[in-house]
Amino acid sequence: VRTGRCVVAVDGPSGSGKSTVSRRLASALGARYLDTGAMYRAVTWAVLRSGVDPQDAEGVAKVAGETDLKIGVDPEAPSVTADGIAVDREIRGPEVTAAVSAVSAVPAVRELLVAQQREMIDAAGRIVVEGRDIGFVVAPDADLKVYLTASAEARAQRRSVENAADLTATAADLARRDRLDSTRAADPLRRAPDAVVLDTTALGIDEVVVRLRDLLTERRPGR
Ligand code: DC
Repeated sequence: VRTGRCVVAVDGPSGSGKSTVSRRLASALGARYLDTGAMYRAVTWAVLRSGVDPQDAEGVAKVAGETDLKIGVDPEAPSVTADGIAVDREIRGPEVTAAVSAVSAVPAVRELLVAQQREMIDAAGRIVVEGRDIGFVVAPDADLKVYLTASAEARAQRRSVENAADLTATAADLARRDRLDSTRAADPLRRAPDAVVLDTTALGIDEVVVRLRDLLTERRPGR
């Protein structure tokens, strides 16, 4: 038990409860946890630090290639460093959040990060991976694919509480990012046809985690 390879892909829009659900599920499974959004955010931080315009795809790709990213995969203590600098707090700030959709739309950035993500998944063996393209692109052979949703109101409400930010501004920002992340040409946010869809508007986080554990046990007895 708890030794076999087991990969869980969790996709969905911002505020769908992805991060909390993914971390708790990883802890419950004794697995690692990979927050791929943190990787796109860390590259965005490096782009802003270098003074490159986030809309300049070539410049962005160059910074991405030159930045040494390190992601901790302990679900109890996720961490991110870029060129040796801890950026956990900075990558959640408004500057990075405003620019991350542009940076993550650059195909060369995605190629680079997806390759790193696959390496980390292979090294971990047992891991819960959250993002936008995990079930489709990063880990199409995942043991379980989950697509989390929630109403736009519920998502804005959660994010504004998390960030102590104004609800109206948060809702507008979420709508903008949803649109950019779902309509970009390179690997937009989509549901994999074989993903289990869970709406977290009314479900508590604990209920979602229990459901996912049950699903996994059904599919992979002993894992
Ligand atoms: O999950 P998050 O809000 O931290 O993600 C930040 C941004 O990164 C999001 O706007 C879209 C992008 N992203 C992506 O394009 N692909 C992923 N696998 C994860 C995040």
